[in-house]
Amino acid sequence: MPRWSRWLGSWEAQQQALLPKREERFTLICAAVSGGCGTHPRVLDLGSGPGSLALRVARSLPAAEVVAVDRDPVLLEIGRRALVRRPKVSFADRDLADPRLPELGTGFDAAVSSTALHWLDRAALSTLYRSLARMLRPGGLFLNADHLPPAGGAIAELARGLEHAGMERHKERAPSGPRSWDGWWSMAEGAAELSEAFAERRRREHRHPERGAPVSLEDHQAALREAGFAEVGCLWQHLNDRILVAVR
Ligand SMILES: C[S@@+](CC[C@H](N)C(=O)[O-])C[C@H]1O[C@@H](n2cnc3c(N)ncnc32)[C@H](O)[C@@H]1O
Repeated sequence: MPRWSRWLGSWEAQQQALLPKREERFTLICAAVSGGCGTHPRVLDLGSGPGSLALRVARSLPAAEVVAVDRDPVLLEIGRRALVRRPKVSFADRDLADPRLPELGTGFDAAVSSTALHWLDRAALSTLYRSLARMLRPGGLFLNADHLPPAGGAIAELARGLEHAGMERHKERAPSGPRSWDGWWSMAEGAAELSEAFAERRRREHRHPERGAPVSLEDHQAALREAGFAEVGCLWQHLNDRILVAVR
């Protein structure tokens, strides 16, 4: 396997080890894009990393045009190199919270995202959702797979407890080395072919956000409605892991 495909493969293995339902979410998102947007959609992948979800969309809908958006120079470099033979997938180096995001274009049929938007606080999410409201065509779909806990209540508590128990069991079995988040980043940082991208990453002071209280499910839904989305709901759920869907 060429080395850039190996980098993408090791990213997939690391994310899959953290998120056992990852592939199930991807399959559903691709089916929803196909069912809701036809065979030739224009799709945004928000916080794409090296393009895992963009690639799933491209595989399931070969005529789709996919723009993968991220601001991490290392992950963008891996994605651009590994998917070089996918001319319908392109990568854009952008901050999702930048109000100039609509410069990437309008009239998109769908915007998808996986395990990324929890990096954004409520203000940044509002900016992003307003951008998306301009970028998606009327009737276009937003599909976001992420950990999306409700603000409170007994049901939310129950889900949190079950999740915590599951996470504790998962942690006991959790992989170390390149299949863990930190292990993967240390391995990548040692690779000569990624040294320039890492230098740029350090220059941008790219850091994982502080772990505060996540933006609640209700806040996501309210921000989408405020931005002008007509309908907001959940397409799939496993405890607090959800696919949030909104129709422009
Ligand atoms: C855990 S990774 C998930 C990547 C990919 N979607 C996947 O499922 O494998 C989260 C991604 O979100 C990106 N991200 C976080 N905040 C961002 C922002 N403000 N603008 C652009 N990308 C962002 C990170 O750089 C990272 O690539």
